[in-house]
Amino acid sequence: MSHGRFDNPVVASLAGFFDLFRKQELASRLTEADRFYGKSCLITGANSGLGFALAVELARRGTRVIMANRNRSPEAVDRARKLSGSDRITSRYVDLSRIETIYAFVESLAAENLHPDVTILNAGVALPGSRKTVDGQDEMFQVNYLSNVILTRLMLDKGVIPADGRGDSLPRIIFISSDSHQGSSAIDYEEFGRYFEYGVSKGIQNYSYFKLVLNTYAVELSRRLNADGVKVGVNAICPGPVHTNITRAAPFALRMVLNLIFKVIFRSPEKAALPVVYMAISPDFEGKTGEYLHMFKPKRMDPKVYEPEAGEKLWRESEKIVKW
Ligand SMILES: NC(=O)c1ccc[n+]([C@@H]2O[C@H](COP(=O)([O-])OP(=O)(O)OC[C@H]3O[C@@H](n4cnc5c(N)ncnc54)[C@H](OP(=O)(O)O)[C@@H]3O)[C@@H](O)[C@H]2O)c1
Repeated sequence: MSHGRFDNPVVASLAGFFDLFRKQELASRLTEADRFYGKSCLITGANSGLGFALAVELARRGTRVIMANRNRSPEAVDRARKLSGSDRITSRYVDLSRIETIYAFVESLAAENLHPDVTILNAGVALPGSRKTVDGQDEMFQVNYLSNVILTRLMLDKGVIPADGRGDSLPRIIFISSDSHQGSSAIDYEEFGRYFEYGVSKGIQNYSYFKLVLNTYAVELSRRLNADGVKVGVNAICPGPVHTNITRAAPFALRMVLNLIFKVIFRSPEKAALPVVYMAISPDFEGKTGEYLHMFKPKRMDPKVYEPEAGEKLWRESEKIVKW
């Protein structure tokens, strides 16, 4: 069964191009004067692309940054320190395609009493087909969706993200999504959490579809945490089309075509990071939850994302997979 709006990677990439001409209402709300001193931010997948640009920009604005990377090399931290002029950047190991590492990662944060003010779930993959993880899951499903559920739930359960509504500002959780989720099909529980093989066109569809699943989880998480008053801001954002290496797993010829489109048309990670930085540090987002930005434009997500029954069911089915 097909799930996404696009099944052709070139069409999907070109669709992103037109987004760049849409009015960005809130762009002027982030100014050079906005700083985040004394605060901390955890970013998954921060060793390259958007995540790296976020680490640099947030550190430059005074934030303590924890890069949560699967790549253990210190090279990205060194580069981020140099570019931001800040030495308040550290890196920790987590591989979202290996669930056991998420448990160890959260244990280490709890043991060191680390409580990021902002948690940005940025890591993601766009794969040309199915790939089985050591946990027996489809890699794109696991990295782009399931591991984000496990990570956020563990961080909340262990008090790494305090959800008691105390403190001088509320913790924020930001899911990096994609506007390509709009128009994806309703969540298919015949396939949910089951591994099966597929190729490029279903891979393209699944990328968008898993973002719809992720957004549905974000809204349900917000609903559950904030039933009697906002305690944690849970929001999602699409950074728009960004020139990164996200197509690195595509077959050679396709990768060449996509690289050309990305290079000529897409925005730099530095520019694409700005609306995410705005959502992370701006007082405009204090106490806000369940919101969605498409770059700097406030928007509604796909209507299916907001259905309480859809969120409730997703929560239950996800718990079944992780055996909670
Ligand atoms: N590029 C776009 O046009 C675009 C548009 C909309 C949304 N997004 C979203 O933006 C986010 C960042 O993507 P990007 O474009 O910056 O791509 P990217 O340059 O490929 O960055 C992806 C990051 O995720 C990390 N990652 C992948 N698998 C991981 C795993 N198993 N465990 C931990 N980290 C893992 C990568 O680490 P490695 O270096 O180790 O692989 C990398 O740091 C993604 O959620 C993506 O869906 C991108």
